[in-house]
Amino acid sequence: MSSPRIGVWFIGARGGVAATATLGLLALQKGLTDSVGLVSSLPQFASVDLVPWQSFVVGGHEIRSGSLSESLSRLHTESHVFDAALVDACQSELAAADSRIRGGTLANCGPTIGSLACPNMQKFSHESHAETIDRLQNDLRGFQTATDVERVVVVNVASTEPSDENLRLSDRWNDFDARLKDGSLKSLPASSLYAIAALDLGMPFINFTPSLGANPAAIQELAETRGTCHAGQDGKTGETLLKSVLAPMFAARNLQVLSWVGHNIFGNLDGLVLDDPANKASKVKTKDQLVKSILGYDPQTLVSIEYIRSLGDWKTAWDHIHFKGFLGTPMTLQLTWQGCDSLLAAPLVLDLVRFVELARRKNEVGVLSQLGSFFKRPLGLAEHDFSRQFSLLCHWAEQHSK
Ligand SMILES: NC(=O)c1ccc[n+]([C@@H]2O[C@H](COP(=O)([O-])OP(=O)(O)OC[C@H]3O[C@@H](n4cnc5c(N)ncnc54)[C@H](O)[C@@H]3O)[C@@H](O)[C@H]2O)c1
Repeated sequence: MSSPRIGVWFIGARGGVAATATLGLLALQKGLTDSVGLVSSLPQFASVDLVPWQSFVVGGHEIRSGSLSESLSRLHTESHVFDAALVDACQSELAAADSRIRGGTLANCGPTIGSLACPNMQKFSHESHAETIDRLQNDLRGFQTATDVERVVVVNVASTEPSDENLRLSDRWNDFDARLKDGSLKSLPASSLYAIAALDLGMPFINFTPSLGANPAAIQELAETRGTCHAGQDGKTGETLLKSVLAPMFAARNLQVLSWVGHNIFGNLDGLVLDDPANKASKVKTKDQLVKSILGYDPQTLVSIEYIRSLGDWKTAWDHIHFKGFLGTPMTLQLTWQGCDSLLAAPLVLDLVRFVELARRKNEVGVLSQLGSFFKRPLGLAEHDFSRQFSLLCHWAEQHSK
């Protein structure tokens, strides 16, 4: 039996993560790369009923002009990642994916993200939330019909929005929906409008960013009512991944962490957006909470993120962990992580699409907590210890062996 064709819809389709994930997918489809970095290709998942890479077709929403090919060239020339020949070999498929990218929404994204947008986005600036959702849904339906895909998985990999601490929302979808329809709800961020558009159509939604997305209780209720699923929040790719591996070690050795400082520097477009203190606050919030949760007490923590243009997509994270050992002896662990941001994130995005597609096909509804190991702030899961999170994924996968 042939596998179903599946659509992958990226929000932020020309960004570093989406462009790299698209290139990676094409390279996998053409047999031009191996599976290093892909969790779903591990032996633990070999007998799981995951769809093959060949099944996927990419489209998406964006607010910037340009092309996938240009985004990839920039990564190649500025950050010296992947082979130019690989991009060349995928040019016609990249152009086809580009032709399936539509204008998104800038609703409540703040001035820094607004400054990235192409002039064409201006024509959507007077839309109500209900009109925006309607338009986004037309794009999603159009993509599904034009590409003849059975299902679409929507992935938010757009720039991090500022969070609005004053946002007060009803917990019930009926009230929420009524306010969307009468136009009195005006303050939802774009990520939540994308989540509503997808979930309302029964399409699963993955939030790889720290933005609000499907977090509000009413939107989670919408997912359940429509019988679909979602996962988030904020991909765990580098420094936070290390924290979720190392903090359990300190806990298991009964070493008392006194302070944990993480200083991150990088220079890509994501870094530029996070240079705005309002956008940065959303990111720091998702990065700064897991140490306390794993240790069970509250050492002093500090997370800083600075934009250093010359580093491009290469992120350096320096962690300084001050801890107390036997007989009160203070000790220090310092480590430096140098990873290429988009290359760390892209395979995880592809894995998530595969796992979420399986969950949707098996009619799983609501938050997919078994995917917690992929996220800094896993929705529906209080567990932050990486190895325990990964065991949950393996256990779930065993239930779906062929
Ligand atoms: N290692 C990683 O790279 C990593 C890890 C975890 C989370 N994330 C998150 O993933 C997201 C993407 O990261 P990136 O490095 O690709 O960033 P990026 O800046 O390269 O790409 C983001 C893209 O989203 C587009 N965009 C912004 N607002 C939009 C909107 N409202 N609708 C549609 N498109 C919009 C931008 O134009 C840009 O092309 C960020 O939120 C980042 O914090 C990245």
